[in-house]
Amino acid sequence: MNYKGFFFACLLAVSVSVVAQSPVYLDPSHGIEARVEDALSRMTLSEKIAVIHAQSKFSSAGVKRLGIPDFWTDDGPHGVRPDVLWDEWEQAGQTNDSCVAFPALTCLASTWNPQMANLYGHSLGEEALYRNKNMILGPGVNIYRTPLGGRNFEYMGEDPYLASRMVVPYIQGLQSLGVASCVKHYCLNNDEEYRHQVNVILSDRALHEIYLPAFEAAVKEGHAWGIMGAYNLYKDEHNCHNSITLNKILKQDWGFDGVVVSDWGGAHDMDQAIRNGLDMEFGTWTDGLTMGATNAYDNYYLSKMYENAIRQGKYTTKELDEKVRRVLRLFFRTNMNKQRPYGFLCSEAHYEAARQIAQQGIVLLQNTGNVLPIRIEACRKILVVGENAIKMMTVGGGSSSLKAQHEISPLQGLQQRLAGKVDVEFARGYVGDATGSYNGVTTGQNLQDDRTPDALIAEAVEKARTADYVVIFGGLNKSDYQDCEGHDRKSMDLPYGQDRLIKALAEVNPKTIYVNISGNAVTMPWLNKVPAIVQGWFLGSETGTALASVLVGDVNPSGHLPFTWPSSLQDVGAHALDAFPGIWRDSEKKIIDEEYKEDIFVGYRWADKKKIRPTFAFGHGLSYTTFKVSNLRVKNKVTHDGQMTFTVDVTNTGNREGDDVIQLYISDLKSSVERPVKELKAFQRVSLKPGETKTVTLTTDRRALSFWDEVSGDWKAEPGDFQAFVGDASNNLPCKVKFTLQ
Ligand code: GLC
Repeated sequence: MNYKGFFFACLLAVSVSVVAQSPVYLDPSHGIEARVEDALSRMTLSEKIAVIHAQSKFSSAGVKRLGIPDFWTDDGPHGVRPDVLWDEWEQAGQTNDSCVAFPALTCLASTWNPQMANLYGHSLGEEALYRNKNMILGPGVNIYRTPLGGRNFEYMGEDPYLASRMVVPYIQGLQSLGVASCVKHYCLNNDEEYRHQVNVILSDRALHEIYLPAFEAAVKEGHAWGIMGAYNLYKDEHNCHNSITLNKILKQDWGFDGVVVSDWGGAHDMDQAIRNGLDMEFGTWTDGLTMGATNAYDNYYLSKMYENAIRQGKYTTKELDEKVRRVLRLFFRTNMNKQRPYGFLCSEAHYEAARQIAQQGIVLLQNTGNVLPIRIEACRKILVVGENAIKMMTVGGGSSSLKAQHEISPLQGLQQRLAGKVDVEFARGYVGDATGSYNGVTTGQNLQDDRTPDALIAEAVEKARTADYVVIFGGLNKSDYQDCEGHDRKSMDLPYGQDRLIKALAEVNPKTIYVNISGNAVTMPWLNKVPAIVQGWFLGSETGTALASVLVGDVNPSGHLPFTWPSSLQDVGAHALDAFPGIWRDSEKKIIDEEYKEDIFVGYRWADKKKIRPTFAFGHGLSYTTFKVSNLRVKNKVTHDGQMTFTVDVTNTGNREGDDVIQLYISDLKSSVERPVKELKAFQRVSLKPGETKTVTLTTDRRALSFWDEVSGDWKAEPGDFQAFVGDASNNLPCKVKFTLQ
């Protein structure tokens, strides 16, 4: 007997059998659903309850006994928020969690470039992986209904189609790395001031045609693994546990198989939390526990009280098992996914991505006399004016606030680019908000300046007299009642007396350039006095580098507005109809009913309906070259299934390379319901060398011809004549063609 051989044969048999015995949920060779069911069958009631609610400010429990780790979420859409203490909002003071701050999502939307959205999500995902965050609480795609909206800078503009096209690749980029998105805030969270009390009232058409499409695309095309319920109410139910938006529309109609995460503090009722679609409860302030009492998380609606209710027989585990299945599916997609790559933080690739997205999103709004780009060779001195030329914007604004490894200011960007070539002087011009800290992160800047507005303006004007160019960086900032979570702006005007400063500078220097740093439109009473105007957005870590590259012409601007720029609030439906922010239901002031009276007529849809000429139109964006859009052809002038293919020629008629964004709008010439004059239904970015012509192909489907039919509760395209308009702005559509749906 060869005992040695026999021994090894037994050892092999045992080891094989051990390997064969590894449980299904731990064996990636099985599909996720099999692993979910296996894990579920092994979990106790207490373990099931533990995974559906938070255990700390940003984490929820795994199942230690089964080797499933805790689950970590983190803000935000623009970068990975610094770690906070276990149960605090204040940052933990780590020294290894500084990140790249990517441009705000309004800037991403302004690129009209889905490839940039994918690059964005992928880069952010790599930073999240390094920081061991399994879910990024973003992106946000609430529609820009009013220029006063405090969080518009975190979203993708006023048009549901543009937001739909840009959110999908962001999600795909992020989730390709095994990091979950959590698309927010679902739904109808379009203002901030009373976000916990607003009960939105609107037509089914407005809901489905304007406010849901970006979320629908995120789920059906982006396959988002997470959706965050919004604070506000719809049909008197909070959107973190809402039978219509969550159970019916999201999970039943759209087939969402991910988890619904509450916004922090968005859960308000146990029975609704159990029955109305909430899967993971975060941030609840139970029993007035606004601070982290030791057993705060036991008091959650989906914690001990739910477990006790089951033990008392008030509920079966039917709803619980459904929630746990979704949470387990999330685990196997993220922190139980063995295929996940390693991440990294603050790499040059991530800075390059931030720069590229910023450069493609900056919008040249006006350039009378071609003042821009700055001609370095013909210039001795440039005066840079404004608090926004020096103020850090990555700190503040609410939960999207970051601890950036660096943030190059507009002034620094110009100084670096023009070093040794042009003398760059600075004048403060105005003082806005000298503070600079948020949840323990401080900018370290000392912006204190006690001079009077008159003195500040006098200094700037004096220096402007002898400058070849004056570049003013103004706009908003991330302080309360500016571009900031939790409040809306009180006015559309520029704050801090900037209008007076801008007028004074334009009077003494014909080459005055105004760069607006904001996530929202502002009024511009000096519009015809300032030859060059640029929308600079909140660009994150590479702000100054990106802005300088565009202003001096290294980069040809190619951003196009993702929202209409009205000349006043009266030109906005929500304000013209006095439908913002809403009316308190009663003296208790628990509920404020906000009726979206403008219905589907949001943004350019309103401007078209009322024949209003905005300051700048949706889709507007100039270039340092010029383009011609011509020769629109349609493959078939009669369609039976609504599939249409349009082609158009685009020529660069100028003398430098540049990108244009070709946009296609559809008009239903005769319909049984009132429809917008036109609606964006396709777009394509195109790069052209001087003199080059390219043919751009734009395709649409039946949905592009449809409206939401409130009778059938479905999309409906009525046979008849339609018209397609093509150009590079909603108010510059030189090509049109009619076609018929049979
Ligand atoms: C905040 C925000 C949400 C954020 C969450 C966690 O209240 O509404 O966007 O992700 O809480 O910070």
